[in-house]
Amino acid sequence: MKYVDHLPVDGKTVFLRVDFNVPLREGKVEDDTRIRAALPTINYLLQRRAKLVLASHLGRPRGKVVKELSLKPVAEHLGKLLGRPVKFSPQTVGEEADRMKEQIKEGDVLLLENLRFNPGETKDDVEFASQLARGIEVYVNDAFGTCHRAHASVHALAKLISVKGAGFLIKKEVENLSKALLNPSHPYVLIVGGAKVSDKIPVLENLMGHADRVLVGGAMAYTFLKALGRPVGDSLVEEERLEDAERILREAEERGIEFLLPRDHRCVREIKPGAEMRIMDEIESGWKGVDIGPETEKIYREKITDAATVVWNGPMGIFEIEEFSHGTVAVARAVAESSAFSVVGGGDSASAVKKAGVSDKISHISTGGGASLEFLSGKPLPGLQALEEK
Ligand code: 3PG
Repeated sequence: MKYVDHLPVDGKTVFLRVDFNVPLREGKVEDDTRIRAALPTINYLLQRRAKLVLASHLGRPRGKVVKELSLKPVAEHLGKLLGRPVKFSPQTVGEEADRMKEQIKEGDVLLLENLRFNPGETKDDVEFASQLARGIEVYVNDAFGTCHRAHASVHALAKLISVKGAGFLIKKEVENLSKALLNPSHPYVLIVGGAKVSDKIPVLENLMGHADRVLVGGAMAYTFLKALGRPVGDSLVEEERLEDAERILREAEERGIEFLLPRDHRCVREIKPGAEMRIMDEIESGWKGVDIGPETEKIYREKITDAATVVWNGPMGIFEIEEFSHGTVAVARAVAESSAFSVVGGGDSASAVKKAGVSDKISHISTGGGASLEFLSGKPLPGLQALEEK
């Protein structure tokens, strides 16, 4: 795969696919991590006097125009970060968009409207991709968070343009995530959490090939505990995944992996802020586990201390609610305090690390949620594959 610094971009019209799928609140960007993550590539292209056409999706508008999901506020925000105006095309494709693309000058930035306002985007439609390709000389993808989607702007379009490559964000993501897959240092600790076992099975199966220890938290732990015949009260359990959970437990035992499930739990009857909370080793009927308990926190912290590699994906509890965030914050601190090379998957785990105030002590926080999970699961990402094809 070629990277942008090996492409002839000087003075060229460059299509840069970015992942500006950022949270908005009242028409303003609430968290600009993903926008900032694309700045090295944007700045590089501007220094090379490229005519820059940026495109992204925002949310899931299902092929229709949804006013609240317009990228216009993002264009304004980017303009502030770059210290120069960012032009905005209210059309993604069409005559007006083509005209705006033609008019951009060297060193100019144009952001197209939300790709997903067009049904062709998620269908990987070649006709839509060829409309996007009009007037474009070089294709650069830096939207790591979207590379697991075979969508038109990351897949069909990349195949239509011969001069193409990846940006610096993709480079950083691929290099760091690969460190967790290729010859990692030991002890290797894999921490998985979140609501569903089903989301994490592929990553568990792939990384159990490296891991010395697996620490499980979040609601997915209850499916494992139930598979072991332990009482989980009214906690969330994926009944249809009990067999998978049993298989994973068996595999871990056969491979000699230390597979840890929470020893105690913070439990409530009702999931809401201020609910009465009890710590239980065995969850009683009528109660639900919402976070790992203090004893588990202590054990997990010890298991993380001497790690040389840590991969973490998924919170230990419902961390969005303050009282249920203790376990997740404790794990985030333990990872930050260890001297391990640490990789945190995007989405919830990245927010958890931020909440704990330790983002700067993590070796790599991925900007991709689903994309980082698929990468760590060893699956080829369509967006990266398309950059390799002639
Ligand atoms: C993400 O937020 O993980 C990416 O932007 C992909 O978004 P999607 O899950 O809606 O495809």
